[in-house]
Amino acid sequence: MNTVECDIRDLALADAGKRRIESAFQSMPVLQSIRKQFIKAQPLAGLKVAACLPVTTETANLMVTLRDGGAELYLSASNALATQGDVAASLVKDFSISTFAQKGEPTRLHPLVDCQPDLAVDTGYQLAQALHAPDRQSSELIGGTEESVQAVAQLKALAVAGTLAYPVVAVNDATTRHFFDNRYGTGQSTIDGVLRATNILLAGMNLVVGGYGWCGRGVASRARGLGANVIVTEVDPLKGLEALMDGYRVMSMGEAAPLGDVFITVTGNKSVIAREHFEKMKSGAILCNSGHFNVEIDLETLAKMASSRRMMREYVEEFALRDGRRLYVLGDGELINLASGEGHPASVMDMSFANQALCLQYLVANRGKLERCVFPVPDAIDREVARMKLDSMGAKIDRLTPEQERYLGGRSPAGGGA
Ligand code: NAI
Repeated sequence: MNTVECDIRDLALADAGKRRIESAFQSMPVLQSIRKQFIKAQPLAGLKVAACLPVTTETANLMVTLRDGGAELYLSASNALATQGDVAASLVKDFSISTFAQKGEPTRLHPLVDCQPDLAVDTGYQLAQALHAPDRQSSELIGGTEESVQAVAQLKALAVAGTLAYPVVAVNDATTRHFFDNRYGTGQSTIDGVLRATNILLAGMNLVVGGYGWCGRGVASRARGLGANVIVTEVDPLKGLEALMDGYRVMSMGEAAPLGDVFITVTGNKSVIAREHFEKMKSGAILCNSGHFNVEIDLETLAKMASSRRMMREYVEEFALRDGRRLYVLGDGELINLASGEGHPASVMDMSFANQALCLQYLVANRGKLERCVFPVPDAIDREVARMKLDSMGAKIDRLTPEQERYLGGRSPAGGGA
């Protein structure tokens, strides 16, 4: 048996973590089916998997599924505030999974690189970057998966430059991920994170959503559902038009700055809220981010503009500006749904992690045959995940009749055609 390595805070929390992991698993029917298949087929037998993901109950269930598929796991927390300490403890104590995760501490990448993984599961290009360091020889890797949008762009740039060390499947591209994870998951859990941190009433407030991509659409629609007056800011005219047609006010951040009571950035970009916006904001405005990194709000500049700072309650920091206005930043600008909330509901992560598990199986099955490029999730996997989810929810859909298939001439919406 492999030695379990760890860097976690408190092993005594393991029992609570185990109960929460098991409870989340009840809401992950697709992963349950995959785990059953994996136990039988052992698709990852003898392989080392390094994973850099938020250490949550749902991630724990992905780890256990991969372990049951034969893999040896090494897990590090991807975001400083994302770690659930009881889950980390239980992964080590109850599931014998090497885990490196302490809330508030920087990501530990060394153990993931040093284990010389066969497969890399990443979100945010941290692990891939470490595996691509000049002193590393990572071309032996079978492949990797990447969850976040901007990281996929970085990996594609490596592929274009001919320096990508191994094939990568962009899990974020899966339709079953966009629809469920980014839109419904981030939409609900971001609002949940804001409410848990502040306990404010959103109804009647002006809520500014920076970015109308998959996450932004979800955040905007959930905020509207709670009665907020939603304003969307964008840089892409198509997305801006879509937001307008969806019934939101669309304007530049400069125009939105003096109007907003709450600002939520979900762009994957940096300095979306910057000095010129802070300068115009109302006193009392609440700022938070649900994009991958804490650079969407220019906190360095805000800190320079502030004469004093203090924590008003957990996750709510007040920046007192020299002109007397006070701005409130939630969760240090980190992903708010993970900082003050619990991340996505397990039923949402079920879809993303089902894609992860099946894509790792796909990479292994195609070992040596794939070029060192960034690939989309194979259509067959996407549809299989959607099929399993529908089954688990007791919903049936129609099948094309042979006549309909002929009529569509191979353009089958069920993925059977070209
Ligand atoms: P996306 O690419 O669909 O949408 C991003 C949108 O932001 C695009 O429409 C883009 O035009 C817009 N944008 C870029 N710069 C902007 C700026 N300066 N001002 C206004 N809009 C701007 O990406 P998606 O899937 O919505 O993800 C967004 C971010 O959320 C990424 O960082 C992603 O990693 C992160 N994410 C966070 C999750 C969470 O749990 N909080 C879950 C999934 C993704």
